[in-house]
Amino acid sequence: MRLLITGAGGMLATDVVAAASARGHEVVGLGRDRLDVSVREAVLDAVVRERPDAVINCAAYTNVDGAEADPDAAAAVNAAGAGFVAQAAAAVGAWVLHVSTDYVFDGEKGTPYLESDPTGPRSVYGSTKLLGERAVALAAPDTHTIVRTSWLFGVAGHCFPATMLRLASERDLLTVVDDQVGCPTFTGHLAQALVELADGEPQRGIMHVAAAGEGSWYDFAVEIMREADVNVEVRPCSTAAFPRPARRPAYSVLRSERAGAPVLPDWHDGLRAYMAARVAA
Ligand SMILES: NC(=O)c1ccc[n+]([C@@H]2O[C@H](COP(=O)([O-])OP(=O)(O)OC[C@H]3O[C@@H](n4cnc5c(N)ncnc54)[C@H](OP(=O)(O)O)[C@@H]3O)[C@@H](O)[C@H]2O)c1
Repeated sequence: MRLLITGAGGMLATDVVAAASARGHEVVGLGRDRLDVSVREAVLDAVVRERPDAVINCAAYTNVDGAEADPDAAAAVNAAGAGFVAQAAAAVGAWVLHVSTDYVFDGEKGTPYLESDPTGPRSVYGSTKLLGERAVALAAPDTHTIVRTSWLFGVAGHCFPATMLRLASERDLLTVVDDQVGCPTFTGHLAQALVELADGEPQRGIMHVAAAGEGSWYDFAVEIMREADVNVEVRPCSTAAFPRPARRPAYSVLRSERAGAPVLPDWHDGLRAYMAARVAA
């Protein structure tokens, strides 16, 4: 099948393009330089020109703290842009898979979030991503899948393990928050699942797809150092001790209540796969 991937220069999209090509699909990856999803006519032109069977929208404004200072820029991509991509896909009869986030939740539930749970974003980024979900559902009511995922890390982008490993080479002590808990998800595993969703039985609506298991950023940092065999002290701290412009959910573990949802490997396996991919890159 023919797949169009937006935001193709990004961390997740890079792995989606690779996974789709490896599965034998015809892949058109358009980075921001070739397609700005916030420009309605440009999106329609590109989708009409490429005539894909499915579009996977990986384009997003992902600077969570930056969005607090520039909500319009975040909304142009995450809300309006998401709607334009879905509209264009619907216009050519293509299915749209749109990627969303655990940050649409307030983080206060304390047990894993399911698709039917009420949303309540606490940040501009999360609010704009929620508006994007709604725009996608409105523009392509019968032909969309919204995949919510969380805490992505991969070799093609700036991510938490890469940052921790860099800091560990510069310092003897790393202080990492232990009161935010989520599912660190390897983009290689998610990309595979997205491509399988694109070429499998259509799954309409919202679907949670994140790594199995859960952990805090501190747990994740400890595992990164263990896997990399780096001897550095990792000390837990609270979110309050490390203030950031955007509020993050305290607990945003995602699980699915849908029978057809892909099940990803545990995040420890994701981390091992990431470390292997880093060496190979
Ligand atoms: N990273 C996470 O922890 C995480 C967690 C949950 C969900 N997600 C979601 O996963 C998806 C992929 O994120 P990612 O981690 O791969 O982020 P990423 O590496 O920042 O990729 C996003 C890509 O979108 C591009 N982009 C920005 N504005 C655009 C525009 N107007 N038109 C076209 N492309 C544009 C970016 O280009 P520039 O780099 O040039 O700006 C970047 O290449 C996003 O929907 C994100 O919200 C991410």
